[in-house]
Amino acid sequence: PRHLLDFDDYTPERLGAILDNADVMRAVLDRPVKKVPALQGLTVCTAFFENSTRTRTSFELAARRMSADVLSFAAGSSSVSKGESLRDTIETLTAYKVDAFIVRHHASGAAHLVAKYSGKPVINAGDGRRAHPTQALLDAYTIRRELGSLEGKNVTIIGDVRHSRVARSNAQLLPMLGANVTLCGPATLLPRDLAHLPGVKLTTNAQDAVTGADAVMALRLQGERMNGGYLGSLQEYIREYQVNDALLARASDDAIVLHPGPMNRDVEISSAAADGPRSRILQQVENGQAIRMSVLYHLLVGRA
Ligand code: CP
Repeated sequence: PRHLLDFDDYTPERLGAILDNADVMRAVLDRPVKKVPALQGLTVCTAFFENSTRTRTSFELAARRMSADVLSFAAGSSSVSKGESLRDTIETLTAYKVDAFIVRHHASGAAHLVAKYSGKPVINAGDGRRAHPTQALLDAYTIRRELGSLEGKNVTIIGDVRHSRVARSNAQLLPMLGANVTLCGPATLLPRDLAHLPGVKLTTNAQDAVTGADAVMALRLQGERMNGGYLGSLQEYIREYQVNDALLARASDDAIVLHPGPMNRDVEISSAAADGPRSRILQQVENGQAIRMSVLYHLLVGRA
């Protein structure tokens, strides 16, 4: 595929190759000089129309580690605030001879539009509630590294599934790589349309969802996308769905805890669980850089 917008055009073999290649990138990052010439002469634009800490910094570092030039565009400090359209913005940036776009936008489907307007390879860095494929790839990579394999592993994702592009991308990716996914949350935050995906189960019962899980991922309540979507009280949510030591006691002995970030500490995840021995949250961040190097390499150099 020319782009990474979601996993629709990807095979398990191709996705496995991206994960394998991240091992090579990790080895680069472990060296004293963390730079290779793979993308020398290319220009990558990070076009962020919605805020980010992890995705933006890791993509920019990933591109620089591979010797690309990086054009960093943040809508908040741009002429978007004067009413400039997405199309005019992307055509303007493309005129600088950008070779690839990395796009985050609050509207689902925006990354597809950027591919159309720019004519360049596009990596979706999160579009609305639709997809966040590099987050799912780094989650899959982290589980594989920590547990040895994804085959037959039970991954439970708990929280605001409805508004989560991370949950959607993981629900598509993890079963393609052999894992079983359970999505769990209050009924108002658990969209039934995800139940048709192969290898995916839905439940509103967190205790059932975590029993026997090999990996438990907590999701943030996304107030900014909610419009009254969660009708319960925060106390009720915490009591029933917070990922904490009591809930994790039901998971497998070696279960790991994940969170894509940013966290609302002591809401969807207790601080003890976030900082405890099961937590691999900072490993997810670390692996994000290697995965994004691997994705850039696959799309811009190793296209097959
Ligand atoms: N997980 C994630 O996408 O984090 P940021 O919003 O900080 O990029």
